[in-house]
Amino acid sequence: MEKIYVRGGAPLRGTIRVSGSKNASLAIMAACLLVEGRTILRNVPDIRDIHNMAEVLRELGATVRFSTDGVVSIDAAGFQETNAPEELVSKMRASFYVMGPMLARLGEGHVAQPGGCNIGARPVDFHIRGLQALGAQVKAEGGVVDAYAPRLRGANIYLDFPSAGATTHLITAACLAEGITTIENAATEPEVADLVNFLRALGARIEGAGTSTVIVQGVDKLQTNREYTIIPDRMEAGTFACAAAITRGDVVLENVTAAHMQPVLVKLQDMGVSVTAIGADVDAPGLLRIAASGRCNAVDILAMPHPGFPTDMQQPMVALLALSDGASMVTDRVFENRFRYVSELQRMGADIRVEGRTAFVHGVDRLKGASICATDLRAGAALIVAALAAEGESTVSGVEHVDRGYGALVEKLQMAGADITRVDSDHPSRLLAVG
Ligand code: UD1
Repeated sequence: MEKIYVRGGAPLRGTIRVSGSKNASLAIMAACLLVEGRTILRNVPDIRDIHNMAEVLRELGATVRFSTDGVVSIDAAGFQETNAPEELVSKMRASFYVMGPMLARLGEGHVAQPGGCNIGARPVDFHIRGLQALGAQVKAEGGVVDAYAPRLRGANIYLDFPSAGATTHLITAACLAEGITTIENAATEPEVADLVNFLRALGARIEGAGTSTVIVQGVDKLQTNREYTIIPDRMEAGTFACAAAITRGDVVLENVTAAHMQPVLVKLQDMGVSVTAIGADVDAPGLLRIAASGRCNAVDILAMPHPGFPTDMQQPMVALLALSDGASMVTDRVFENRFRYVSELQRMGADIRVEGRTAFVHGVDRLKGASICATDLRAGAALIVAALAAEGESTVSGVEHVDRGYGALVEKLQMAGADITRVDSDHPSRLLAVG
């Protein structure tokens, strides 16, 4: 079993390169199944969820090759399998996105109800209702979703909640459908816009990306042999920003689109952190400097769908607020159970009380290193952020959750001066990272 050891207190300094977006990559990889040939993706992160999605695509008949520097080639000419492997799907919610391409290209699909982070009920009813509106016959029984559609047909779809996953999945499904699909109350996340930009680069006809009404005019085919560069990961960048702030460090983040991070950057500035986008264009990937010279101020946070504060960032932010000056109230309106990591922060000395979907944080002067366990991906990020500033040593277990979304996290933090090491606890002498 692997663990991450952190000796807190070292301010982060230097440059950290941010990887491509996990969530955009997952949606775009699944959409590559629509293409009867090869697609090249650039800036794909080297993380467990991506390799898991690659495995799902391979099981369905696609060829997926990874080369250096985040380049992935996906050839879906051989896509002919309509049963997604349950053991892979159960690991990751985004694998359900393959259902749309299955229906669009093969006329049927059989996919297990997906797994993913343990942060709430996370049903797929919006996905299913949307596919039904597009003409699919869907049966969800015994943990498996079976769907049939000789030809998907355009429809008007209204989402009860602007679900990022349902929006990307239904846009993908509608690309090759007959006629026009309108998705209202669509998610406006940058990752949804990235999927749309990708599909448009392949010849799809889609309007309204990044707005709450997306209109898809179906086409017969998408083009092969296109290349597309995925946007930077705003969650990874935000995690490093919190780590820089909590350690009173000074870090330049490379490969960041500042415009995608506005809700997080505004909060950091309110907390007294210096945030500087280097270069003229905040809408394109560039450099972002994050520096903090003292203790941060408390702020309130309300996590909501984009362009609100991202739910994926509330955990590292709560870690930062745990050491800030004053009282904060953090509410998550997206997921009902995303504060499970708080008990671990309390073991480090944090003063946080959770009531329903709200955490009340009273900043303390210091956190103490402890043995702590990550219960999900962003929980792991929060615990590592806290451990970087805690007194003494922390041991973080549940590292497999962190690996789902952060590539080379330990190495990147080491390069910025953190005292952090990854160890195989069954073989403690064997360091898994150069530390
Ligand atoms: C995606 C992201 C995740 C992020 C979340 C919210 C990926 C792979 N994951 O997750 O990192 O935290 O968006 O920004 O992109 N819901 C339903 N029925 C559905 C779908 C969703 O009730 O069919 C509910 C969920 O339980 C949740 C809310 O809608 O309460 C938002 O979920 P959604 O935006 O769909 O999140 P995901 O796509 O799962």
